[in-house]
Amino acid sequence: MSTESIVVLRAENLYKNYIQGDVEIPVLGGLNFALARAEQVAVVGRSGSGKSTLMHVLAGLDTPASGNVWVDGIDLASADNDTRAHVRSESMGFVYQNHHLLPEFSALENVAMPLRIEGIDRASAQEKATHLLSEVGLAKRLSHWPGQLSGGERQRVAVARALAGDPKIILADEPTGNLDAETAAQVIELMHVMSAEHGCAFLVVTHDANALPSFDRVVRLADGVLK
Ligand SMILES: Nc1ncnc2c1ncn2[C@@H]1O[C@H](COP(=O)(O)OP(=O)(O)OP(=O)(O)O)[C@@H](O)[C@H]1O
Ligand SMILES: [Mg+2]
Repeated sequence: MSTESIVVLRAENLYKNYIQGDVEIPVLGGLNFALARAEQVAVVGRSGSGKSTLMHVLAGLDTPASGNVWVDGIDLASADNDTRAHVRSESMGFVYQNHHLLPEFSALENVAMPLRIEGIDRASAQEKATHLLSEVGLAKRLSHWPGQLSGGERQRVAVARALAGDPKIILADEPTGNLDAETAAQVIELMHVMSAEHGCAFLVVTHDANALPSFDRVVRLADGVLK
């Protein structure tokens, strides 16, 4: 197998600026990046260095001024909205700093939701969601609402939900930013285990220096490029 064939996400020569009044803020300046299948990579960098901007561009939620983001042979930078949405739901999962669980739905329903949206029948979706929640250690919390879960448990549900669609890539922007150090370490460890078991690559923005040694690779965003 060639090296090329195991890259699940490739960013080429990304440029992005924000215009604020008369001022141009350069954020990405010719950035290149490749994520290999099942690779676990941490993104670090100073506040304002552009990490969230980069994650949005890699997720196809924002477009670069120029450059390409290849996922599944499709360039998200030039694809239309429907195509980008399709690639996101087929190949990507997301974990956010604020869990983004639906408050009126149980843990089980939150994890089953992306599967239901894909058209999978209720029983199968719930069976898979139950299995995923067991894997993240929440077999006894299936019917809890997000408001009845601890912060760490909510992020575990979010990890299970991100994996529901069998993504090749999980993108997470400071997924442990709201957690205490011990809980954060447990959630990062869980993400490593789940990523390895599901063969899913995992790209995480984190400010937590303690978490870095556990990643395959750490890249630093500075001056618009990854170092
Ligand atoms: N919509 C926008 N309009 C104008 N400027 C923006 C916009 N979004 C971000 N910026 C600017 O772009 C730069 C990068 O922002 P970004 O949120 O990507 O940084 P970050 O590395 O994620 O920071 P943090 O670690 O604080 O989350 C910042 O200087 C920010 O002020
Ligand atoms: Mg950010």
